[in-house]
Amino acid sequence: MKFGGTSVATLPRWQNIRELVASRRAEGARVLIVVSALSGITDALKQLCAQGDKSKRIEAAAAIKQRHHELLEQMQLAPPEGLLARLDDLAQLAEDGPRVLGELAWQAQVQAHGELLSSTLGAAFLSATGVATQWLDARECLTAIALPNQNERTRLLSAMVEARPDPVLTARLAGLGEVFITQGFIAREGRDDGIAGRTVLLGRGGSDTSAAYLGALLKAQRVEIWTDVAGMFTANPRQVTGARLLQRLDYEEAQEIASTGAKVLHPRCLSPLREPRVPLLIKDTNRPELEGTVIGPEVREHAPSIKAISARKGITLISMESVGMWQEVGFLSDVFAYFKQHGLSVDLIGSAETNVTVSLDPAENLLDSDAIAALATDLAKVCRVKVIAPCAAISLVGRGMRSILHTLSGVLAEFGQLRVHLISQSSNNLNLTFVVDEEVVDALVPHLHDLLIGAGALRTDDSALFGPSWEALYGRGDVAPAAASWWRTDERQRLLDIAAKATPRYVYHLPTVRQQARELKKLAAVDRLHYAVKANTHPAILGALAEEGFGFECVSPGELRAVIAAVPESAPLLFTPNFAPRGDYEFALTTRATVSLDALHPLQYWGELFRDKEIVLRVDLGRGLGHHEKVRTGGSGSKFGLPVDQLDSFLRLADAHGVIVRGLHAHLGSGILDDSHWGEVYGQLASLAERIGSVSFIDIGGGLGVPSHPGEAALDIAGLDRVLREVKTAYPHYQLWMEPGRYLVADAGVLLARTTQQKGKGAFRYLGIDTGMNSLIRPALYDAWHQIVNLTQLDAPATALYQVVGPICESGDVLGTDRRLPEANEGDVMLIAQVGAYGKVMSSPYNMRDEAEEVVIE
Ligand code: LLP
Repeated sequence: MKFGGTSVATLPRWQNIRELVASRRAEGARVLIVVSALSGITDALKQLCAQGDKSKRIEAAAAIKQRHHELLEQMQLAPPEGLLARLDDLAQLAEDGPRVLGELAWQAQVQAHGELLSSTLGAAFLSATGVATQWLDARECLTAIALPNQNERTRLLSAMVEARPDPVLTARLAGLGEVFITQGFIAREGRDDGIAGRTVLLGRGGSDTSAAYLGALLKAQRVEIWTDVAGMFTANPRQVTGARLLQRLDYEEAQEIASTGAKVLHPRCLSPLREPRVPLLIKDTNRPELEGTVIGPEVREHAPSIKAISARKGITLISMESVGMWQEVGFLSDVFAYFKQHGLSVDLIGSAETNVTVSLDPAENLLDSDAIAALATDLAKVCRVKVIAPCAAISLVGRGMRSILHTLSGVLAEFGQLRVHLISQSSNNLNLTFVVDEEVVDALVPHLHDLLIGAGALRTDDSALFGPSWEALYGRGDVAPAAASWWRTDERQRLLDIAAKATPRYVYHLPTVRQQARELKKLAAVDRLHYAVKANTHPAILGALAEEGFGFECVSPGELRAVIAAVPESAPLLFTPNFAPRGDYEFALTTRATVSLDALHPLQYWGELFRDKEIVLRVDLGRGLGHHEKVRTGGSGSKFGLPVDQLDSFLRLADAHGVIVRGLHAHLGSGILDDSHWGEVYGQLASLAERIGSVSFIDIGGGLGVPSHPGEAALDIAGLDRVLREVKTAYPHYQLWMEPGRYLVADAGVLLARTTQQKGKGAFRYLGIDTGMNSLIRPALYDAWHQIVNLTQLDAPATALYQVVGPICESGDVLGTDRRLPEANEGDVMLIAQVGAYGKVMSSPYNMRDEAEEVVIE
């Protein structure tokens, strides 16, 4: 068990350590405690070392003595002999200065006192409070090895230890007691001549590394690193409060996350544990009940997925252009020789025939502008040099990176809008790194984290791997679950009864529809809300939304008829078709619907139909957005909307037929969670409207998303309200309309089905249910992720990993991949969540399977 500086600085902290050690003893474990120096003491010792003036050094040693005495007083302990002796040693070292031992050996000896003191004090406290504890000199256990590239400084102040399981040491300790305490950060120099080596320091990551070395030597059951946070997270929680706790990682992944930015663990401390396969736990001292992160040997049962997004700032890029010599032999060797000569370690590398670009990481290098200038001067002898700084490296980390590239299109699209200086894919297949300008990172990382969850690349649905969010653990309390789960508590029994009569069945919960409607009615700037009925045309839903005061947006005569039959005549209608035949417009013009056009053709060829009519013009703003490429409706790759460069032709045709453009419309796509989007569309449409003159309302479409993956951030309706009100102050003369579909109904619908058969095949377990892509095509069509639960065994432990499939004759008939669920029995009722939008309406009679019936509950 390793405790850092703040964990050993006060009496309450030591009482806490005592409790934790006692709890491990109660489990029957023997405990070795590794401690850092009291917080602030290592710095004080470094300052002492930097002091040329003897009297100042003596003063500094006295202050350190005082600090330890104060803590002893708090503990109501008489100073133990060993502590007094060590304080005397320190005073002597301060007095002598470096002249006896030599500068570096003296520094190591002085700084080692931080841990020597804290461990001696800890042994006394624990023994006095009933936990008999043996003090152990870490230098007797950890021997530094000499490496060829080391100089005197690194040998003494940044030493390495080779830690192989040592049965002799283990046996010796077994004879001595049950609880031991020793020092982090220090070791002894190894020598062949039998003389005791000098004290050396382990350098960065010191105490964690000591704990790992000792864990390996003793082949411990586990190493526990006790710190102030419960473990590693999917992103830096300071940047991303929704970052999720990573509950299980293998050594390589954890090391990769640590080396690409996470600060909680030094990457160096994992390698000693790998060969002896000793697991490492990260635990929160203040919240010992939290499970923390377990890092251990690789767990193969998991599908490849991204585990974390990390960022490092302060990166410097050096771009080297070979001058005129294509494929010059030895070019790389020449340039890298200069890096070695200047003591700079290279991190990322990108290369082309005539250019090599590398990055320098400040965590591994002492980077100052002089060091870089000196390097650049030397490099200029063999190539043209460009230094690019400050940059940041953003890394996506996870096992099997190359096999999940297809899930990253959204992330790549984000990078497409930035200056990316370098992309590097690590050869161990564990990370994909983008180097960008430093200033964009803070805003970008939270956004990318959301996108990764949304794309299913960061598989937050796998509750064995991804724990609670930082926000839920340390923030304002529990965040709302991703999908509204009315079905989980209140209505569960009712749903089981409904499924007992027949499956498959869609069930719609009207209170949820109303609640979502009321949420949108808070948008003060919006003058008229229409429900995009394509999402779900059930008459009860149409009726409920009419009662809430919604208008209705339809795209076909069928939808118009359904709405007219279900809602009062006072409800306004919009007709927003695309590539519809002439007859559809003829029909719509006989109803009260406001008709929209999105091409020249209708006015060019059927102009008489629209004579003297008021219409809406749908334009294409040149870009699309949404949860999947297939639902983005903008740009020349999409069939929707009139391109803005045809606006003048459209207006001339309109004039010729006395047609008045009353409204201007755009809808860029579906499933958007970023509130700023609608403000941009609104502003663009409003400025176009100024050119047209006759416009009185602006329709900014629908597309409002709902979070589907656990941990995905919801659309911020208050934020949207602010954005829209801002634009409205600039254009108060236009009415503002919207036409959401999904937002109103998605969470209100579930699909109930029964399990049919199971099959094991290779590493996979398939769980069949009695309906598939015929009832719900979204997973097959958009890789959409829908939560699936076993409603019959809702609270049973999820011990199986299933591929949930339907009975349709297509390989794509998969409703959910890698789902952790309870062991299912034939006939269990399975619930597929969030299918109120684009579920039933997109179903088909394929394979002549029975359609899912629809049931509405109030
Ligand atoms: N307005 C227009 C002109 C639309 O084309 C759509 C949706 C909406 C409004 C409503 O969008 P919403 O608020 O529901 O995102 N089947 C896909 C969604 C396709 C959306 C088509 N148009 C899915 O299941 O995700």
